[in-house]
Amino acid sequence: MDFEQLLVSYFNDDTNSKVKEACLYALQGKGKRIRPRLLYSVLEGYHIDKNIGNDFACALEMIHTYSLIHDDLPAMDDDTLRRGRATCHIAFDEATAILAGDALLTKAFEITSKNPINNSIKAINMLASCAGINGMIYGQTLDIEAESLKLDYEQIKKIHNHKTGCLLACPLAMAAIIALKNDETVNKWYNIGIKLGLAFQIQDDILDLISDSETLGKSNSDIENNKQTICTILGIDEAKKLMLDLYEECENEILSFKDFDAKYIFEIIDSLKVRKF
Ligand code: IPE
Ligand code: IPE
Ligand code: MG
Ligand code: MG
Ligand code: MG
Repeated sequence: MDFEQLLVSYFNDDTNSKVKEACLYALQGKGKRIRPRLLYSVLEGYHIDKNIGNDFACALEMIHTYSLIHDDLPAMDDDTLRRGRATCHIAFDEATAILAGDALLTKAFEITSKNPINNSIKAINMLASCAGINGMIYGQTLDIEAESLKLDYEQIKKIHNHKTGCLLACPLAMAAIIALKNDETVNKWYNIGIKLGLAFQIQDDILDLISDSETLGKSNSDIENNKQTICTILGIDEAKKLMLDLYEECENEILSFKDFDAKYIFEIIDSLKVRKF
C-alpha cells in the first residue's frame, strides 16, 4: 500500500456520512505530504524500518489537513481554492468543513493511541503539544490578530514558528522519539524543525506574492487579508536570502548528528529550496 492509500484506509470502517466524505475529499487533494516525508526520512536516517512510523505520519497529515480546512474558513483566511480544488467549505458547507476538521483531529489520536511501539505515549504527547494551544493553534490565533496590527520581524517570526514551525518540528521530533533517542536529541530535532518551518513559511509567503493560484493550487490572499509577512518587512530578495540561509543552518545542524545518515532528509530539503507550490 502506498502512502496515499494508507492515509485514507483509516476511514474504511467508518460509517458513511457527509463528514467522512469531506475528510476524504480534503485528504485526497494534491498535498505535498512534506510532514510525513520528513518523519520517514529521519527514521530512514537512523536505519529504522520506516513503516513503524506509518500511524504517526498519517496522524500528522490528518492534523495538518484539518488545520488547512479551518484556515480556509470564512472566519479565518476565507479562501476558495486548496490543493487544486474548491476548499472544503465550498465543496460541502461550513458546518461540514468544521466537523471534518474536528474529525481529522480526533482520528489522529484514535489511530496513534492504538499504536503498540514502546515510546508511543511520548510521541502522541509531542503530536498534541505541537498541534495544540501552545503550538499551531497559538500561531493561528496570533496570525488572525495580526491582520489589524503592525508587526516587527520578531513578532512575525513568532507567528511563523508557531503556525507552521510546530507542525514541521513535529515529524522530526516524533521520529527521534520513535527511534528511542534521548531528550536532548529529540529537542535538537525539534529546534531544527522550527527553523525549517520558518524557512518553509517564508517561501509560502513569497510564493503567495509572486505566483498565481493555478500554480499554487490554492488561493493567494495574503495582500487582500492584510497579512504581514517576512516579505513585507524585508522585501522579496532579502526574504529569499534568509530562507536559503535558514535551510543551510538546518543542514549544518543535521550534520552534527554522528549516528545519522542525512541523505534522505537532505533530498527533501533540496526539493523544498526550489519548490514552486
Ligand atoms: C500549507 O502547507 C500551509 C503552511 C503551513 C504554509 P503545505 O504547503 O505543506 O500544504 P500541502 O499539504 O502541500 O497542501
Ligand atoms: C497557514 O498559513 C498555516 C496553517 C494552516 C496552520 P497560511 O494561511 O499562510 O497557509 P496557506 O497559504 O493558506 O496554505
Ligand atoms: Mg492562514
Ligand atoms: Mg491561509
Ligand atoms: Mg500562505
